[in-house]
Amino acid sequence: MSEQRGNFSRVGFILAAAGSAVGLGNLWRFPYTVGNNGGGLFVLIYLLSVIIIAVPVLLAEITLGRHTGKNPVGAFNYIKPGSQWKLVGYMGVISGFMILSYYSVIAGWTVGYFVKAITGGFNGITSAGATASFTAFTSNWWLMIGLLAVFIFLTVYVISRGVSGGIEKYSRILMPVLLGILFLLLIRSLTLKGASKGVVFYLKPDIKALSPSLVIQAMGQAFFSLSLGMGTMITYGSYVSKKENLPSSAAWIAFFDTFIAIMAGFIIFPAIFSQGMSPDQGSGVMFNTLPVLFAKMPAGAIFGPLFFLLLAIAALTSTISILEVPVAYFIDEKKTHRKKTAIFVGLIAFLIGIPSALSQGAVGFLTDLPLFHIGFLDLMNHIWGNLSLSLGAFFIAIFVGHIWKSSNALNEIKSGCEKFTVYGVWSFAIKYIAPVLILLILFGIVL
Ligand code: TRP
Repeated sequence: MSEQRGNFSRVGFILAAAGSAVGLGNLWRFPYTVGNNGGGLFVLIYLLSVIIIAVPVLLAEITLGRHTGKNPVGAFNYIKPGSQWKLVGYMGVISGFMILSYYSVIAGWTVGYFVKAITGGFNGITSAGATASFTAFTSNWWLMIGLLAVFIFLTVYVISRGVSGGIEKYSRILMPVLLGILFLLLIRSLTLKGASKGVVFYLKPDIKALSPSLVIQAMGQAFFSLSLGMGTMITYGSYVSKKENLPSSAAWIAFFDTFIAIMAGFIIFPAIFSQGMSPDQGSGVMFNTLPVLFAKMPAGAIFGPLFFLLLAIAALTSTISILEVPVAYFIDEKKTHRKKTAIFVGLIAFLIGIPSALSQGAVGFLTDLPLFHIGFLDLMNHIWGNLSLSLGAFFIAIFVGHIWKSSNALNEIKSGCEKFTVYGVWSFAIKYIAPVLILLILFGIVL
């Protein structure tokens, strides 16, 4: 493998892949989507999607990546040279630009809120005050664009240093810190007065909430949270050593990611309900409610900044994995220089991100799009974060199961994992269960 591509060390891969998976998807997107979709039922369908559909796809992506040692476009081309399958890779590269663009907007908010928190901005704040403060924050167009720029700059900086120098080094330090802070917040939130109402909302499935849209969003959330469907895990897999046990890595990554998402719900919902607030406030839910929580709790002046720092860190280990997809594509296929490529891709994502940054109150037209009646960011999130990832995962499952064939994938898996006892189950899932369910759900046939 060339200097430009680099490699992960053994622990490094799990940390980096878990760092990719754990991010705003767990702490911002998951709670707000659960809140919008009525609570427990969404959580249940999300968990089923993770186990039945997403985990098999995760293993397929990592295996395909390691076998080919390539970016998504190169990986499809390597196995089926000259075929149209590389279009799935291109779709992943484009999704990378798109997801990075709006993801970095929210990531920028976490930096802004970290600064607010550390400068005492939450002291004595009420729920009305927090909402007003969030509205003023997202309406400030130059601040929105500035924070987006800051976050993309940070991402480009890490990526330009390469896989082991950049991605791995940061994940190694940041992941354990993140877990520690989450545990503190969990204890704090669950011991609040009235916390149990939030727990009930979060855990009790309400069958009346069932709709095709809920199921699509729950499945989309499973892919989004595990960084699947656009080739992130193909790309990260391409840096993994042949000694690595892929099934056990995939299981750990999925467990860790899902654990943190579930934990985030236990932090957010008790906090929302103990304040008598409503859970379905959309993408600002976390930013509207947590400041009040921090203002009212002992040592909130410490927990507040810690929480937003944690979020910004988790977001960074995710944005670097999103940016790495287009960067690896250009390096492999177009033989470009890593640093210049990272700057180029970052710049484009920044420009695409501007309408998203201005869509939360700064510009009326973008905040409430004609026809759609949602904001530009929410539209991007639905198209790229739910639909495109689901389609991508569908094609990856078909490709690995039927074109490359799961028996060939097994040979790759066997390197580093002598006995893959659940091979039969995985093979059936990747060939039939995952693709069929994804299609049925996308077309709204499965309720
Ligand atoms: N999974 C990350 C999160 O939960 C976001 C992410 C990183 C992602 N890479 C991705 C989402 C690739 C979709 C596709 O925050």
